[in-house]
Amino acid sequence: MTKELEIVRPDDWHLHLRDGTILKSVLPYTSKIFGRSIIMPNLIPPITTVQDATMYKDRIIEALPNDHSFRPLMTLYLTETTDVMDLAEGFAKNLISAVKLYPAGATTNSSLGVNDFKRLYKIFEKMEEIGCILCVHGEIVDPDVDIFDREHVFIERVLDPIIRTFPNLKVVMEHITTEEAVNYIETSNENVAATITTHHLVINRNLMLAGGIKPHYYCLPVAKREKHRVALLNAAVSGNSSFFLGTDSAPHFDSQKESSCGCAGCFTAPNTLPILAQLFEQESLLKELEKFVSINGANFYNLPLNSEHIKLVKEEYPVEFPNKIFTSEGDITVFDPGFPLYWSVKS
Ligand code: NCD
Ligand code: ZN
Repeated sequence: MTKELEIVRPDDWHLHLRDGTILKSVLPYTSKIFGRSIIMPNLIPPITTVQDATMYKDRIIEALPNDHSFRPLMTLYLTETTDVMDLAEGFAKNLISAVKLYPAGATTNSSLGVNDFKRLYKIFEKMEEIGCILCVHGEIVDPDVDIFDREHVFIERVLDPIIRTFPNLKVVMEHITTEEAVNYIETSNENVAATITTHHLVINRNLMLAGGIKPHYYCLPVAKREKHRVALLNAAVSGNSSFFLGTDSAPHFDSQKESSCGCAGCFTAPNTLPILAQLFEQESLLKELEKFVSINGANFYNLPLNSEHIKLVKEEYPVEFPNKIFTSEGDITVFDPGFPLYWSVKS
């Protein structure tokens, strides 16, 4: 039986588009369906000034297909030497929508990130005053902390002190992966929210590691135990306004992922919404999908909802998605949820 669901056009509150050839190849998968995305600044070199962000935005707009009305929302990559006046001016002029904090060494292209979080407190003070959102990659990188504990230790040692010191600072804890993070967000004030990725709603660490290592399931923060996946899914389908979609779609060439030192990131842009529709339907909570993908994030970012709608259609037979996309510089594998997908998007 065909089933249909019309929702406000969704947004993606955490997206990696890269640059050059990859940008041109991956952008249409997002821009066809999503109205806006928060664009991650971890290029090489990173986007650390408003001028960098504006030039990058121009390259994204130039790469857009003519009939896509997508709006990239730019971010600055925070360093211990970020120019706070540049940040404030860029925010006032709407040239940047948020600022991204990467602990140094936590993830892909984060070596220029932050070592001493206290050195950022002057910047946080200004951001709190002007209402600029702080997006946080919430993992501690101390060698004494096990990689599976990096997120919840970060909450205790870094995030909670920041939030207590700056209670009016709007903070998004990005791509949460643990029950502890869900609980923390649920009990925080309304200035603290979290994005959840598509892949963390699907995979757990067994799927990544048991029966052979699956490099295309390796992402950061790394997938955790099944109970954490279930906690994330419950948070996503709950409709709670503090949780919204940030796909963290992070394309890498297969040669870099299928390697003796494979890099982190799952490329989910082509099939994200069909996967989400299927998961929400399985939970009998399809009615909450629109909040997760189209409403909660826009409200948190103080932006109007997209005026257009899209239609999701449940087909009788599984819908085929490409398992790879091909670029002139290499192939990029599309995230495989491991189950057939019946939903397609009519944008
Ligand atoms: C992201 C990337 O490839 O840029 N990788 C990932 O595993 N998520 C960086 C990030 O968001 O951590
Ligand atoms: Zn990311």
